[in-house]
Amino acid sequence: MDKFVIDGPARLEGEVAVSGAKNAALPCLAAALLTAEPMRLTNLPGVADVRTMQKVLVHVGATVEAGPDAVTVGVPKILSADAPYELVKTMRASVLVLGPLLARAGSVRVSLPGGCAIGVRPIDLHLAAFRKLGAEVSLHHGYVEAKASRLRGADVVFETVTVTGTENAMLAATLADGTTRIFNAAREPEVADLAKLLVSMGARISGAGTATVTVEGVEALHGAEHEVVPDRIEAGTYAIAAAATRGDVVVRRCRPEHLRALTTRLAAIGVRVAADGDVLRVRAEGALPAQDVATAPYPGFPTDLQAQWTALATGLDGVSTITETIFENRFHHVAELVRMGARIRLEGRRAIVEGCRLTGANVMASDLRASAALAIAGLTAEGATTIERVYHLDRGYSRMEEKLNALGASVKRVSAEAGRT
Ligand code: EPZ
Repeated sequence: MDKFVIDGPARLEGEVAVSGAKNAALPCLAAALLTAEPMRLTNLPGVADVRTMQKVLVHVGATVEAGPDAVTVGVPKILSADAPYELVKTMRASVLVLGPLLARAGSVRVSLPGGCAIGVRPIDLHLAAFRKLGAEVSLHHGYVEAKASRLRGADVVFETVTVTGTENAMLAATLADGTTRIFNAAREPEVADLAKLLVSMGARISGAGTATVTVEGVEALHGAEHEVVPDRIEAGTYAIAAAATRGDVVVRRCRPEHLRALTTRLAAIGVRVAADGDVLRVRAEGALPAQDVATAPYPGFPTDLQAQWTALATGLDGVSTITETIFENRFHHVAELVRMGARIRLEGRRAIVEGCRLTGANVMASDLRASAALAIAGLTAEGATTIERVYHLDRGYSRMEEKLNALGASVKRVSAEAGRT
């Protein structure tokens, strides 16, 4: 298992280009299951989760021609409408094949994803949506089995905002008989990006990106080409790293309008943030005052940036509270930051952080965004930080060490087996 060795402190300076959004690429790949014609995605991020989703599609019967940042997927025939435990346990977003397979094949069997480091993460709301669309859904031996000769349009109300739940319902509704209205839908830009692809495939969708999405079912969808929206969480991660290292970073190929919850808070603590088209410049120097943050569904402060902000908060002046309202257990980075000298106390879903200087240490990554938080902390800490199990990081960030080193950091990837760098 690879690890990172980071020499701190570093000051990030220069330019970084953001890749396509992992959390848009995954539902967009699943959309290929809805048609027999080839679908092509460009601006695809080179991350492990995208490669895993491609494996799931091949298992179902897809042909996949993958390039460095593009892929063409064709599913002329569904060979097996199922996603086995071996694949789903490595990536819970595999559940995104439920909606398209139910709509295209009329039946589907997918392993329940099980929990992960940040929480139980059930999919009960996804299943309730499929039942509303007329599917028979049952659970056997850790698998979801769903069938419907043809889904029927219906009103689907999500009692909790769920991103992939909204995406699964939208995917299924595109081929249903009649109109589906999704209430309390997730408003994340990745949901809107999926809808943009589906419309280019012939779906009839309106309201994506708002809390009410309307889908008029059609008989069939056709192939399309789609450029995946830039990854706002990757962009936000580098913006926070720039602030934490008191650097001057130009984040290119991003969508600043998708990052307002972050950029307003950075500006509030004295970080200079300037947006111009698809470029975001982040500059910071000297002491920055602590500021409280609470996560919320989009357009609120993203839970996927909470860990990174916590790392930043360890270097702010004063005490601040970080509240995680989306997941029940998303503070795994805290124990590791404390090993670097951070002063953080946990009270349920709140982390109370008092700013201080960090020192480098050996730390362990536990999940994707916690790993990013540890990398940011390693950049600000005095001395060397070794982050074990960076495969977590590779799930959602392409070539992070290259991008950080191009900004002046010193990050070495050490492959565990040979100690090779
Ligand atoms: C998506 O996960 C993202 N993943 C997550 O990003 C992100 O953290 C999350 O949305 C919240 O923004 C992808 O898009 C692939 P949810 P998702 O359903 O859809 C509860 C990353 O780091 N819930 O919006 O699984 C759930 O437990 C990943 O890139 C139910 O109770 O999240 C959570 O508390 C991590 N029942 C809340 O809703 C359900 O059926 C929001 O979860 C579904 C969800």
